[in-house]
Amino acid sequence: MNKIQIIDAHKHVGEKVKIGAWIANKRSSGKIAFLNLRDGSAFFQGVVVKSEVEEEVFQTAKNVTQESSVWVVGTVQEDSRSKFGYEIHIETIEIIGDAVDYPITPKEHGTEFLMDNRHLWLRSSKQHAIMQVRNEIIRATYEFFNQEGFVKVDPPILTGSAAENTTELFHTEYFDRDAFLSQSGQLYMEAGAMALGKVFSFGPTFRAEKSKTRRHLIEFWMIEPEMAFMDQDDSLEVQEKYVAYLVQSVLDHCDHSLDVLERDKELLKQYTQLPYPRISYDEAVELLNKNDFSVTWGEDFGSPEETFIAEQYDKPVFILNYPKAIKPFYMKPHPTREDIVLCADMIAPEGYGEIIGGSQREDDYDALREQVEAFGLDTKEYEWYLDLRNYGSVPHSGFGLGLERVVTWLSGTEHIREAIPFPRLLNRIYP
Ligand code: 4AD
Ligand code: MG
Repeated sequence: MNKIQIIDAHKHVGEKVKIGAWIANKRSSGKIAFLNLRDGSAFFQGVVVKSEVEEEVFQTAKNVTQESSVWVVGTVQEDSRSKFGYEIHIETIEIIGDAVDYPITPKEHGTEFLMDNRHLWLRSSKQHAIMQVRNEIIRATYEFFNQEGFVKVDPPILTGSAAENTTELFHTEYFDRDAFLSQSGQLYMEAGAMALGKVFSFGPTFRAEKSKTRRHLIEFWMIEPEMAFMDQDDSLEVQEKYVAYLVQSVLDHCDHSLDVLERDKELLKQYTQLPYPRISYDEAVELLNKNDFSVTWGEDFGSPEETFIAEQYDKPVFILNYPKAIKPFYMKPHPTREDIVLCADMIAPEGYGEIIGGSQREDDYDALREQVEAFGLDTKEYEWYLDLRNYGSVPHSGFGLGLERVVTWLSGTEHIREAIPFPRLLNRIYP
């Protein structure tokens, strides 16, 4: 007899199989019991008919508790009524480990309760679907960058310097000196690009941001490509091609998960159409002020502003060339405008906010050194980074895509806390 996973049920129609599973839910009458089985790969229905099995088997099925683990043996059948399309007619059921008073019952629960039980909440069908979407985005990321000739480079997590805003650094001790958890691998990826041409990283990043919004995590995962001999326009083309590829991959490989999440697939299809629109920061300020916002040139946009801009389009939109004063030290100024930099944020539709931040990098030694000093950074920590401009400097660009922002968007989930298995939030590091 074959031991199979539920996801493969369609290959075993009419066969007698064995499945290890948990009881996600159940209902029964005097004559029949329906067990909603999940084994991690998928969910489907097990049917136990009293008149067809030993009395002991029917009693076990009637009494088994939610989230007990079981071995079931039975025959796989097609079932046109179930969304999954298959079910199993159970002959025997054996309890592996019982579960007493599983806290997450089929009724509604409050967010704090679910967050306290995140280690169990992950088992529910919605969370399962989101994790499948997350996995597909990661898989497609490696596939895309491999196809495009990028090499994966792993930047360090423990660093001596800040890549982004110095006020948001996590401090730790590194033997007898200070160290910080990485906010971004970018500076190291620039060194990687000078060695390997086109590189990308995928790793955890940390921001001690006092933000408590539905878009902010303290620990999040970022994909950071960096490309030698590429200017800002070249980089935008890679960005839109990459994001469209992610959307298409999720449509192709997460059909069932998108159904569970009740995600509008027609809307997602729209996001695979290139190119994505581009609007400059200057134009965005003007547009906002014509529409009852009051933004002063030089200010950063908040989420209402970003959402309004995104609503003008039916696809993600690039906002280009922000004021120099509100962006990090490494961005290259615009060739004819000293007050703006060659950068872009990609804003997702439907109010999901910024999913990518990127720029062309300052490649001139003196200009970069001045910037390091102007930002009050400790120059000796950046000597290695400045070196890259001393030995064959080239125009280069890169960007960072926030994995959980994209998972939230493509899943159509309300809050970013559900886009990562164990979210670290302002007031939460448990479980
Ligand atoms: O815009 P950010 O800060 O850009 C950088 O870190 C650059 N060094 C990247 C690069 O050019 N290599 O962050 C990049 C992206 C944002 O667009 C957003 O999607 C995500 O990372 N992000 C967050 N996601 C979740 N929680 C947070 N607190 C985030 N902060 C940024
Ligand atoms: Mg940003």
